[in-house]
Amino acid sequence: MRIARIALMGALLGALVHTAPARAEVAAQSWSFDGPFGTYDRASLQRGYQVYSEVCSNCHSLKYLSYRNLEDIGLSETQVKAIAAAATVPGDMDENGTVHDRGGLPSDHFQPPFPNDNAARFANNGALPPDQSSLVNARDDGPDYIYGVLTGYVTPPAGYIVPDGMNYNAAFPGHNIAMPQPLQDDQVTYTDGTKATLQQESHDVVTFLTWAANPELEQRKRMGVHVIFFLILLTGVVYALKRKIWAAVH
Ligand code: HEC
Repeated sequence: MRIARIALMGALLGALVHTAPARAEVAAQSWSFDGPFGTYDRASLQRGYQVYSEVCSNCHSLKYLSYRNLEDIGLSETQVKAIAAAATVPGDMDENGTVHDRGGLPSDHFQPPFPNDNAARFANNGALPPDQSSLVNARDDGPDYIYGVLTGYVTPPAGYIVPDGMNYNAAFPGHNIAMPQPLQDDQVTYTDGTKATLQQESHDVVTFLTWAANPELEQRKRMGVHVIFFLILLTGVVYALKRKIWAAVH
């Protein structure tokens, strides 16, 4: 009797745990930064920055990145200065308590689109657009998942009711997402002549956001490869030494 009750409790608990919206399967994409020798495709990073700044930055902040970090993706010092200068940054406070805005400097952090979370929610139907500085790392299979969300605005299954102010998305957990589809074919015009399909734009912005969250990835992978080579070499030396030392013991 007691065992039956415990089993029943277990089953109920299991059912409860499973009621959280399961994440839909997302298809694995091929990324230049995959694998032990992975690197960031510089051209894709720059196109991705263009997509972020023209589209995503209207709603999503990227507050842990500084303008000068953009030199890592191949922008020149002059380009970075111009990008920073176009931003409005809260500056010094005068004796009356008024904060005077100033133009941005390369050392400033990316300025957020909204002054605070309440303003961001108010502008987005109550939903908060998450900061994108580490979004890729905060989600399982981040790059594939974000690519899945960006390309996942499909017609809902027959009979599916999309709540007011929501959009159907195949990849988003629970399928109802407050973000309207942000990218379409030709949403941006690439300066390098690449055709701006929805897939290309999504691929580029995900590459950029992966770099934003993991700027040290290339260095880390290079270090990993060096360590492996060193260990292989060391094993050889130690083995040769062992043979030499034990050669006399027979
Ligand atoms: C009009 C405002 C707006 C724009 C533009 C926008 N987003 Fe969003 N985004 C939102 C909101 C609001 C949410 C929160 C959705 C929710 O919780 O239902 C969101 C959520 C997301 C999520 C889901 C995050 C999660 O919690 O798993 C991703 C990924 C995302 N946005 C990426 C992007 C990218 C990349 C761009 C640019 C190509 C972009 N967004 C442009 C408003 C926007």
